[in-house]
Parts: sequence; structure tokens; C-alpha cells
Amino acid sequence: MTEKDWEEIKENLRDKFFEKFNESSSHDFIKYVEKAHKNKDVLLECVTKYGSPLYVLDEDFLVERAEGLFKAFRIKKKNIEVFYAFKSNDLPYMINILKNKGLHADVAGLFELMLALRLGFDKIIFTGPFRTDEEIELCIKNSDRVFLNIDNKDELDLILEKLDKKKIKKPLMISFRLNLNKNHEQWGKFGLELNQLKEAVLKVKNSQKAVWKGIHFHSSWNSSPEKYVQNIKDMSEYLEKFFSEDELSDLSFVDIGGGFMPEGFGSFFSSSEKGKLMEIANKPFENRISFNMADSIEIFADTIIKEIEKSIFGEKRLDLELWIEPGRYISSLPTSILLKVLSVKGGNIYVDGGINLLGSSNFDFEYVPVINISRPSKTENKSKIYGPLCDPDDHWGNRYFGEKAKPGDILAVVHQGAYTFSTAWRWQKPIAPYVSFNNSKVKIVKDRETFEDRYSGCKFE
Ligand SMILES: Cc1ncc(COP(=O)(O)O)c(C=O)c1O
Repeated sequence: MTEKDWEEIKENLRDKFFEKFNESSSHDFIKYVEKAHKNKDVLLECVTKYGSPLYVLDEDFLVERAEGLFKAFRIKKKNIEVFYAFKSNDLPYMINILKNKGLHADVAGLFELMLALRLGFDKIIFTGPFRTDEEIELCIKNSDRVFLNIDNKDELDLILEKLDKKKIKKPLMISFRLNLNKNHEQWGKFGLELNQLKEAVLKVKNSQKAVWKGIHFHSSWNSSPEKYVQNIKDMSEYLEKFFSEDELSDLSFVDIGGGFMPEGFGSFFSSSEKGKLMEIANKPFENRISFNMADSIEIFADTIIKEIEKSIFGEKRLDLELWIEPGRYISSLPTSILLKVLSVKGGNIYVDGGINLLGSSNFDFEYVPVINISRPSKTENKSKIYGPLCDPDDHWGNRYFGEKAKPGDILAVVHQGAYTFSTAWRWQKPIAPYVSFNNSKVKIVKDRETFEDRYSGCKFE
């Protein structure tokens, strides 16, 4: 099949599938390549000092992401609170920087909660379906700074029963996670149905030891603000219809979760529905990529806040706070993974770090620039880049920017801060160290996993 045939087929298929595929070339990613080129000396210094593979955090870039998001929302509405989602990256050093910038903590499990307490956060929201007794007890013990975001009726009953038997410093601050993602079956496991909310709120109101503070929803991977707008509308309509002003009197925040998609990512055509079909018809097109289009954070902020102001919250409760829980928007871009080329054979490249550093095989469908910082150039080469794991899925994509790689070269995989370090697999290789730089000063902020870390608590006979 020729390029011309492809153009025809593409035209015919355009309306067959709903999904957008904005065919892209590497120039859409050049600004990220240039940034890596600008940082190449400090990145190479990280490897010289601490070896490879490595996670490397650019601190200034992290602060820029957090401040950019704050500014976009605060410029439109003053009472906004930002809760950083620890699950996207739970590196304590990084979280501490965000805390110093005024972010609060969004945690999803026991260790994240313990970490937030240890780092001294004074506002922590704990969201997660199906919590353990130990997690609930820790929330109750810290009821002066933890908001427990309740997922279901059984959990509410259990918590109220526990509270009944306890002496507590302060009534436990409760919010309810709502399941508003109608068209998303896989998210159906989370939260209360809207029609269960009233009964749940009344139960809390009848307790002296708990107070209803907030209402919450979350939806992931939003490239535009539509889902937030729909969810705010649904929630508002329900509250307006079924709650009196008096019943809403303790409500002090609405939390719209995270899910703001960051820029700087692409996907492989072969992983789309159209692409799969095309792949069956013609293999050579598997290498096509798309630059994922995401609205700017300013558009998210503007549209969401307009809807909030229009809704019941704006009219009846002007002092209601808006809470957001960004994870990947803040943490993904500032971290790169650095890998050393060990071998170049049969046109493929073999590096010393595997997808255990990610905890997923994202590179089957996701594209981000991989950059040879030892031989920088803006030309792109097509070569499959394999990691060292005994797993055929262990690869970092099909292309890289730079001159032809040779053994010993260092490749930077950019935008690797979200759902990588926090989801890394304990599998075959040690978890890599985390290094951070600020004004070209390099320091280690988490040591490489040791044999003792890996087998801690294991009996050897
Ligand atoms: C309740 C909640 N809040 C926040 C987040 C963070 O989402 P993201 O990293 O996409 O911003 C998640 C992610 O799953 C979540 O479940």
C-alpha cells in the first residue's frame, strides 16, 4: 500500500470511529526536546554521580507547574484549595516542595496518610473505596486535620458506629464521594449514587461526632472540561431539589477531583481502534503518532468556575470553597527517566532500565520523546528501545531524538513523574534512585533500593 492509498483509506475511515487522531510528526514535541537539550549537562552530571537508571526531578519545573495551576484557578476564584494527589507520585522530597507552595494532601491509602501526617500537612483529604479499620482509626485519631471522603453506605455506618464508642478531639469532618460518571462503567465502583446522598447526610447530621463538610467527584483523563461541567450540573440540580438551605448549612466545599490531562504526551496510532484495524490491513503504519490535544489549564479553570458560579453554590453559598486534586498535571512533566545504552544490535537499542520503573507497559500505546542527550540533535531515528527485563513488553517505544545511539550513551525519557515511581514494580531489578536538581545543583533524594530493602521481613529458612 502506498501513501496515496493510505490517504484515501484515512478519509473513508474518518467518520467510522468517534475517536480523534490528530496525526502528528515529531515537530510537535520539539520544545520538550529543546528543554532536555538545555538541561543535558545537569542530567549527564546526575548519571555521572549516581549511575543509571535514574529518576530525575527538575525542581524549578515542578514549582512552575504547581504555580501555573494555582494561578489559573485563583485568578478566577479566590477560595480555591489545591490538594496534591499523592498517588501520582509519593516521593516525600517532592511532596514537601509542593507543601511549601501551599498545596494540601490528597491521600488514598494507609502509607500515604501516614506520610501526609509525618510531613505536617494540616489539611488532608482521604479518598479511597473500601478502607481498612486501621485507616479509619488513623483518620479518627487525626480528626483535626483529616477529611474522610466516604465512598459507600456501609462505610458510613461503620464509621458512625466506631465514632459512637470514642472520645474525639473534634467531630470527624466528612465528605461524600459521588458516582457521577454515568457513561464510565469501569468507574462505577466508586462512590455513592446521588439518590443515596440525602439519607447519608441526615445520618451524619444526627451524629454529634461527625460533621458533613463536602461533596466530591472525580473523573480521570480529561482533555477538556466537559465532564466537570456535567457533573457540577447534576450535583447542583440534585442539591437544589432535595436539600433545604438549613440542611446545606454545614457544607463548606465542593471537591471536583483531579484528572486534568497534561500536555506533552502522544499516542501510537496502532493503539487506537482505527489503528488496530489499519494494522491488520497494513503493518508499516504502526509507527504513526498523535499529539494528544489537551485544553490549557486556563480553559479548564475558566469553564469550571463559570459553571460553579452559575450553579446553586454560586447563588446560595458564595463562600463555598472549590477543592481540586491534581496529580499528573503537576507531577508528570518535571521528572525524566535516564537510561544508559548497553548495546545496539539488529537496529534495536538495549538500555539498562526497564518498565519496572513505570509499573506498566505504557509504551505500547503512549508516546513521549526519548532523547539521546549524549549526542543531541533534533533529528528523529526509528529504533525499538528495549529494557533489560525478561519480558517482551519491556520497551520504551520505537523512536528517539539525537544522533545514532552508541553503547554508553544516555537517553532521557521525558515526562515520567506520574504513576511511575509510585507504581514501580518490585521485579527483577532494584527500584532506581531519585535525584533532584535545582539551579544546576544535583542531590540524591531517594537511594536506590537495596537487597535489604527488597527482602526486609522475609524469613530465609
Ligand atoms: C480521587 C482522586 N483524586 C485525584 C486523582 C488524581 O488524578 P490525576 O492524577 O489524573 O490528576 C485520582 C486519580 O485516580 C483520584 O482517584
